[in-house]
Amino acid sequence: MNALVTGGASGIGAALSLELARRGVAVTVVGRDPAKLNSLKEAAEKQSSLQAGRVTIVQEQTKLLLCCIHVLISLTQSDIATSQGRRQVVELLKGEASLSFLVNNAAVGTPDRLQDITLQDFEEAMAVNVTAPLFLSQQLLPLLEKAKGGGRILNVGSGIADRVQLGTGTYGITKKALHRLSLQMTEDLAGRNVHVAYVRLAAVDDRTRQSSHLADLLLEESNETFAKEVTVRRSEARRDGQD
Ligand SMILES: NC(=O)c1ccc[n+]([C@@H]2O[C@H](COP(=O)([O-])OP(=O)(O)OC[C@H]3O[C@@H](n4cnc5c(N)ncnc54)[C@H](OP(=O)(O)O)[C@@H]3O)[C@@H](O)[C@H]2O)c1
Repeated sequence: MNALVTGGASGIGAALSLELARRGVAVTVVGRDPAKLNSLKEAAEKQSSLQAGRVTIVQEQTKLLLCCIHVLISLTQSDIATSQGRRQVVELLKGEASLSFLVNNAAVGTPDRLQDITLQDFEEAMAVNVTAPLFLSQQLLPLLEKAKGGGRILNVGSGIADRVQLGTGTYGITKKALHRLSLQMTEDLAGRNVHVAYVRLAAVDDRTRQSSHLADLLLEESNETFAKEVTVRRSEARRDGQD
């Protein structure tokens, strides 16, 4: 099994990437900041020396650090807000026979009230939180479809999408759009060998618990259980005739 985790160099994404690696999944991590990617590499090496007793650095370049641990973690420096960055990520996976999991985890959102939101911040949040999950999913579909038992797309959402609080417009609106995108993906991909989940995380201080929950969901045996949240909401919306 293999996974692509966007924004996997820090925070919940890093904890999830290490957790998936611990459970035997080969993980490709995408982030922008080399310092964050390096600290994940150090954490992976530490985990490896604890678990496997050895670490081999296979390749080290500015763009791609590949380190062998218990399983593989590949670290990729790309800006998924740009089509060039997304292309770079897709290119990197071209050698893979399939992709088991795409985790759209990277997110940004500058806290500002309506009066102060800048076009630049809003456009960046749309690009990272909505455009990137849409087009990465689209471009990786052929690989996801080839995954044994079905590929899985996990869109990491936030409670803020449905809870309006002062200054959370940029982040909340784009996360709400990510939820809508997840419903659309489920509709459009019906009958294909790809399943979509949207997880609404709450503000956390326990990343280990959160990442373990996400890893459990990704490795869940049943595709129906994996996709339950989106499927239920989609049928509720249909039943209620919402538009
Ligand atoms: N933490 C919480 O309490 C909480 C609550 C609800 C939902 N969530 C959701 O959980 C997910 C992870 O949250 P987090 O708190 O762990 O976030 P975080 O610590 O801010 O990490 C976000 C990651 O996204 C990466 N990223 C941002 N823009 C990128 C770009 N253009 N290209 C590539 N990578 C990019 C960042 O790396 P670079 O800086 O290197 O680009 C960073 O590693 C997010 O989707 C968030 O909305 C979190």
